[in-house]
Amino acid sequence: MIELRHVTKTFPTRDGGRASVFRAVDDVSLTVERGMVFGIVGHSGAGKSTLLRVINYLEEPTSGSVLVDGQDLGALGERRRRAVRRSMGMVFQQFHLFRSRTVLGNVAYPLGLAGHSRREARERAAEALRFVGLEDHARRYPEQLSGGQRQRVGIARALATSPKVLLCDEATSALDPRTTGEVLDLLKRVNTELGVTIVLITHEMDVVRGICDGVAVMADGRVVESGGAYDVFARPRHPVTGALVRSALHDVPEGAALERLRARHSGRLVTVPVTRDGTDGSGLSRLLRRYELDFAVAHAGVGEVQDLPLGSVTLELRGPDDAIDAFLTELAGAGEAAVA
Ligand SMILES: Nc1ncnc2c1ncn2[C@@H]1O[C@H](COP(=O)(O)OP(=O)(O)OP(=O)(O)O)[C@@H](O)[C@H]1O
Ligand SMILES: [Mg+2]
Repeated sequence: MIELRHVTKTFPTRDGGRASVFRAVDDVSLTVERGMVFGIVGHSGAGKSTLLRVINYLEEPTSGSVLVDGQDLGALGERRRRAVRRSMGMVFQQFHLFRSRTVLGNVAYPLGLAGHSRREARERAAEALRFVGLEDHARRYPEQLSGGQRQRVGIARALATSPKVLLCDEATSALDPRTTGEVLDLLKRVNTELGVTIVLITHEMDVVRGICDGVAVMADGRVVESGGAYDVFARPRHPVTGALVRSALHDVPEGAALERLRARHSGRLVTVPVTRDGTDGSGLSRLLRRYELDFAVAHAGVGEVQDLPLGSVTLELRGPDDAIDAFLTELAGAGEAAVA
C-alpha cells in the first residue's frame, strides 16, 4: 500500500553560524502492506513525524520516492497527487478540532472541502460518528467532550472521506491508559471492519504491542530495525529497540529491582523466557519435576504481542545444588534460560 524508497528529508540549519543541512529523515526504505497496522517508534526527535508527513506529501522529500497504492507521488501531476493524498486520512495528538464548530460540523468539514453537498456531507459525517460511537454528541462542541471523545471525533473526521490509509501521529499520547486502550480498540476496528491500512507513530512500545502487525524503529532519521511486531519484540537487535522493548515488557528484573529480589529470595534465581515457540511453561514444569525441584515465583512479566505470549518469569529454585546445576544446564542447552 505504501512504499518508501531511499527517502531523505533535510532541513536547512545553522551549524555554528554556518549554513548547513539537517537530515530529519535519512535514506529510509520501507513497505507497508495493504491491510496492515504498522507502527513507527523511536525517541523524540528521531524523525517519525517528518516521515509521516512525507508519506502524504505534507512535506516533499528531498530525495527518494513515495509510492501509495502503486502511484509515485513525486511523478504525479498536482491534481492526481491531490486525489492520492485525499485517500489518506490523518489523526493528530492534539486532535486539531475547530472549537467553533460542532462535532458534526468538524467531521463534515473535509467532506465540504472535497466538494460534497452540504446534505451529503452531513449524512456521511453522521455515519462516521456512528462508527466511532458518538452519534449522540453530534451537536456538542469539542470543549464539551473528554480527550478520548475528542480523539474519536478526530478519527471520525479522518474516516469521513473514506480513506484507504490512516496516518496517526501520536494519536493516544495525550490520553490516559484506559482511554488509550479504547482509542486503540477503535483503530483496530477501523482496520478490520473498514479495511483501512493504518500507519501509526508512537514512542510507546505498549501501543505497538496492542495493535501493530509490523513495526519500524527509527533513530537519528534512520530506520534501524523493522519487521513483524512479534519478532521485533522477541528478538530486538538494535540497542534502541532493546531499550524500548524492555520498557514495555518490564519482564526482566534489572538493577535495583533485581537487588530487591535477591534480598528477598535466598535461593538461586533463574529467568526463563516465555515465547510462542520456546518454553511455554509446560516444558519448564516437566524439567522441574524431573529434577525434583520446587520453586517460588519471584517476578513475572508475560503479556501478549500480536495475540501471542511473550515475556519471562523469574523463579527462585529450591532443591539440592547439584540438581539445580543439572536443571540449569539442560535449560541453557535448550537456549531458554538466563540466570538472574
Ligand atoms: N521544519 C523543520 N525545520 C527544521 N528542523 C525540523 C523541521 N521539522 C523537524 N525538524 C527536526 O527534525 C528532527 C525530527 O523531528 P520529528 O518531529 O520528525 O521527530 P519525532 O520523531 O516526531 O519527535 P517527537 O517524538 O518529539 O514528536 C528534529 O530534530 C526536528 O527538530
Ligand atoms: Mg513527532
